[in-house]
Amino acid sequence: MAGNSFGTLFRVTTWGESHGRALGAVIDGCPAGMPLSEDDLRAELILRRPGRRYTTPRREPDEPQILSGVFSGRTTGMPISVVVWNRDVDSSYYESIRETPRPGHADLAYVKKYGYENWDYRGGGRASGRETVGRVIGGAVAKKLLSCLGVLVTGYVVELGGVSFPKADDPEEALRSRLSPFRVLGNEEEAERLLREALSERDSLGGVVEVVAWGVPPGLGEPVFDKLKADLAKAMMSIPASVGFEVGWGFALAKARGSGARDPIVASAGEPVLGGERAGGMLGGISVGGPIRVRVAFKPTSSIMIPEKTVNIRTLEEEPIRVPGRHDPAIVLRAVAVAEAMAAIVLADHSLRAGLLSPVRLEWSASCERVWKLYEEFSPAS
Ligand SMILES: Cc1cc2nc3c(=O)[nH]c(=O)nc-3n(C[C@H](O)[C@H](O)[C@H](O)COP(=O)(O)O)c2cc1C
Repeated sequence: MAGNSFGTLFRVTTWGESHGRALGAVIDGCPAGMPLSEDDLRAELILRRPGRRYTTPRREPDEPQILSGVFSGRTTGMPISVVVWNRDVDSSYYESIRETPRPGHADLAYVKKYGYENWDYRGGGRASGRETVGRVIGGAVAKKLLSCLGVLVTGYVVELGGVSFPKADDPEEALRSRLSPFRVLGNEEEAERLLREALSERDSLGGVVEVVAWGVPPGLGEPVFDKLKADLAKAMMSIPASVGFEVGWGFALAKARGSGARDPIVASAGEPVLGGERAGGMLGGISVGGPIRVRVAFKPTSSIMIPEKTVNIRTLEEEPIRVPGRHDPAIVLRAVAVAEAMAAIVLADHSLRAGLLSPVRLEWSASCERVWKLYEEFSPAS
């Protein structure tokens, strides 16, 4: 099992390397009848795309082409295959560092596992952040599917370089981060200052993404190993550069007393619901209705010009390495789109598993369209 696929009924396979000809995704398990266009995918890809302010200067248009699974503008229930051609490949930098694995990147692990001769060292190959193009494509399909359940998946940066940024209390507020180049909900000047300072010192920043899924129905998640929180954890921790995961109050709950750690159960519109977000909207690994709130920590970009020690694979001598090339000063800005996509894939998969969506055919109604349009309303033009 090479682990290039994720999900049980809604299954996303990503393929392609950073400096190969193309990358893409195959999405299996999307029911028939859902309108799907390249515009739908493009709108989500823009939020992950390099070349925006304070991201890697690599210019990739990330134009998606749907090759299969859509006929007359609607899904057919067959595998949806999407390709994105790599347009701005420059592998020259990587020749000079081929024999010196970059500290913090996946080079050393790939050489040890697959062998030096078999390793695609260009731009990190499969371990490049570029692999996540396929995840965002899968996530766009999942988000559209979830629109029919009234579920909206949002994300934003809550921490950058150790500085906290505001959180969202409602879906519209959360969606506004899509219009911010820093994916924050306020205090953009501070985000820009932090990034400019790190860049001027040729350094990089880490951060934390909060993902909130609004309107999640109760009953998502299987009781033992396929708990919703377990699948979300795996999904998030599979994103390159992720280093931590929290549900609800997360690690803060470990410091609390039991008396302050439970969400009260309260009556709302004739229904028992959670009166807090300590548990992140799940109990026993199953959604109970209301928002699902999780956080993912991302390390600072490891490829920077400040030297670090490595070993030359040929000579076995230690030597310092500075990493030239085109890199993100803070992965976390672009990781928001990826974390949202992974959350949507998990929720779409569990919605099918719970029988809340038919695995065969979808009735695309005006209410599905209304929810999907909300993403469009908060989509940057480019
Ligand atoms: C959207 C995105 C962009 C990334 N950009 C870079 C980058 O420009 N330079 C870099 O060294 N790592 C980048 N990474 C992180 C590497 O892919 C990652 O550190 C590498 O695969 C090693 O995996 P690990 O950090 O999870 O151990 C990026 C990750 C993501 C999700």
